[in-house]
Amino acid sequence: MIKISIIGAGAMGGAIAAGLSRAGYSVTVSNRSRGKLDALAADYGVAVTLSNVEAVKDADVVIFAVKPYVLPDVIAEVAPAIDFSRTAVASLVPGFTLDDLREALGAGSADAAIARVMPNTAAAVGRSMTFVCLNGRARSLEDLFKTMFDSIGTTAIVDERLFGAATALCSCGIAYAMRYIRAASEGGVELGFRASEACEYVCRTVEGAAALIEAQKIHPEAAIDNVTTPGGLTIKGLNAMEKSGFTAAVINGLKASAGK
Ligand SMILES: NC(=O)c1ccc[n+]([C@@H]2O[C@H](COP(=O)([O-])OP(=O)(O)OC[C@H]3O[C@@H](n4cnc5c(N)ncnc54)[C@H](OP(=O)(O)O)[C@@H]3O)[C@@H](O)[C@H]2O)c1
Repeated sequence: MIKISIIGAGAMGGAIAAGLSRAGYSVTVSNRSRGKLDALAADYGVAVTLSNVEAVKDADVVIFAVKPYVLPDVIAEVAPAIDFSRTAVASLVPGFTLDDLREALGAGSADAAIARVMPNTAAAVGRSMTFVCLNGRARSLEDLFKTMFDSIGTTAIVDERLFGAATALCSCGIAYAMRYIRAASEGGVELGFRASEACEYVCRTVEGAAALIEAQKIHPEAAIDNVTTPGGLTIKGLNAMEKSGFTAAVINGLKASAGK
């Protein structure tokens, strides 16, 4: 059985541990403090330890799920204990490129299989859109990485040159989708619904829109054409939104987020 060790039992490390353990992987999680480890062990039966070095021994894949400012120290701590000829390394930490990771892992990692992984917070409910990019050595492990991260949602393998764009679109992007939900809910309250009802109705509508586009395999604009009666109310609403800069605001936000 494939053994996966996750360093960091926070929001993302915990969600990935839960998904991987449900999918039948052997999972070990290490964390700086005890509380979250006890909860993960009790809820999902994963092995837990307060020792990062203990966690990485004998692992097939080590996943770094700590904050960026902690990563260099964690790597310095565990790299000497990793056998890079058998253990692949993955990092969820933004801002560390494949080259940065290889450099931080040290000379012994020259031929290491290294991946960057970017999930979003929907990992907590098994619905993350997760992007993975792989260095040359890790390319032979593409199926493994895809299957692993499919346990928390949907996974796409991308070139590293698109990783920043992928982060903006779907990792930051989940916040943008939530901002639409918030805006539409507030509009619903102004139109007379209670806030909780409006939010529930908008969530179901957004879910339905995504499901329709996926099922019918059509462009969103073609799906919109199906709803807009000539001279009708929907097109009046859409055009009022565009006058307020809806599409431009979304595209500008994505470009700012991707640093473009
Ligand atoms: N959350 C997201 O939506 C998201 C999406 C994509 C990528 N990411 C990235 O994923 C990484 C983890 O994010 P997160 O949201 O899971 O953060 P988080 O909830 O703050 O979790 C970080 C965990 O790391 C633990 N930790 C700190 N120092 C450690 C050490 N020396 N050894 C072992 N564990 C240590 C912390 O332990 P304590 O319990 O003791 O504090 C905490 O449980 C970050 O780099 C983040 O940018 C997050």
